[in-house]
Amino acid sequence: MSIFRVKPVDMILSEAQEGNCLKRALGAFDVTMIGIGAIIGAGIFATVGAAVVGSASGHPAGPSLIISFALTAVACGFTALCYAEFAAMVPVSGSAYTYAYATLGELIAWIIGWDLIIEYAIGNVAVAISWAGYFNDFLSSFFGVSVPVWLRTDYRTFSQSGLDFTSVPHIFGVPVIINIFGLLIVAAITVLLLRGIKESSRFNDVMVGIKLLVLAIFVGVGFYYFDPKNWVPFAPGGFRGIQVGAATIFFAYIGFDAVSTVAEETRDPKRDMPIGILGSLVICTVVYILVTAALTGMMPFMEIKSKIAEPLVAGLEYHHASRWLIALVSLGAVVANTAVLLVFQMGQPRIFFSMSRDGLLPPVFAKVHPVYRTPWVTTIWTGVVVGVMAMFCNIDEMVNLCNIGTLFAFVLVCAGIIVLRIKDPARPRPFRAPGGYATPVLGILFCLGLMHGLGRTNWIRFGVWLLIGLVIYYFYSRHHSELETGKKVSCNGG
Ligand code: ALA
Repeated sequence: MSIFRVKPVDMILSEAQEGNCLKRALGAFDVTMIGIGAIIGAGIFATVGAAVVGSASGHPAGPSLIISFALTAVACGFTALCYAEFAAMVPVSGSAYTYAYATLGELIAWIIGWDLIIEYAIGNVAVAISWAGYFNDFLSSFFGVSVPVWLRTDYRTFSQSGLDFTSVPHIFGVPVIINIFGLLIVAAITVLLLRGIKESSRFNDVMVGIKLLVLAIFVGVGFYYFDPKNWVPFAPGGFRGIQVGAATIFFAYIGFDAVSTVAEETRDPKRDMPIGILGSLVICTVVYILVTAALTGMMPFMEIKSKIAEPLVAGLEYHHASRWLIALVSLGAVVANTAVLLVFQMGQPRIFFSMSRDGLLPPVFAKVHPVYRTPWVTTIWTGVVVGVMAMFCNIDEMVNLCNIGTLFAFVLVCAGIIVLRIKDPARPRPFRAPGGYATPVLGILFCLGLMHGLGRTNWIRFGVWLLIGLVIYYFYSRHHSELETGKKVSCNGG
């Protein structure tokens, strides 16, 4: 059946080799920084508050969130090992989509490509909204500038807060409520990404440096005020608190996989992909555990409630820290979210680009800019869609959708590793995930466990999204697939 046809790994590799119009400019350091850039963001600067206090679930993790972070790191670790094996073996920009094409067949590959839109684009809508929130805080705490509410939130949040609609401008009777900064930051990032991979990566290095420095300062302050009494009880919500905490902060770890989307722009992907994927995950795990230990040790954890969306600021305010220190942490959050946005906005177009090169999306998406050598058409499309959605959407809905979509991709990547080891055991694997089949199997089980905790509404939304994708596949992609037509798509979209 044509929907199960696979694209042989050798064909993928030779096409990527011959037709690589992207620029190989990145080394091991750059890709590790890209990983850290993608990982540390809204998760540690915002989501941690809800997990410590258990605001959504009623099961506080308290100081035991440290264990949650370690558990989720182990779960992500199994998947990261699988990503590293694939990325070194099939170093092309399509990431999980391409791995699925080589192992599980065209239909599953299409599903995963379609699903990755949820991870990258929807994830970025959430990060852009969080960015806008911190940016507003920064503007008001540092410059005393107050932007009207109708220009810095979405309709749903506005109505839930019980604000007065009469103060909002109306066009044809419809209230205008938009998150303008969400749009502006996405537009700025898009322009940077069009300029070139090396420029984007340098900018990312600077931002990663700033966010690590800010978090190091926070950890220093936190340990200075550390009081062992704050760690009693250590696990106020028992094991359930730890478990719910682990699912909540999963979002904080998303991003190590994005490293694999720049494989075609990496000089020695066989060596550098595993270093970037695993290195960034390990570094971020250490950072997360230190920050959580500092935060929960410097104040009674329930006090975080005072500023749940900005837990680190809550810790500083508890000790009456100076205004500049608080502004510094807000700035750190803005910078951290900017880096996440950058890498995700970088990843999404490269996946579209790969799908288009395979014929599953229109050829125009495979166009590479003649001067900057970036996939410019898909970069602009991604920018427009994410920017417009960031103006109107609600952050919690976007985070949960991103979580379910990402976990699904992780499951299929782990499954792909099993399939390829059975079907093609002799293929050279520059990096092989240790632990035999246990590693991908545990990866699958952990991810399914986390998906299970995500609730009905998210499953329904996710199902509807996949259904739309299947309709497109049925009417367009399967007829235009390179494997069907034999036609190759070139970098100028022809
Ligand atoms: N891991 C990314 C963040 O926390 C998505 O913002």
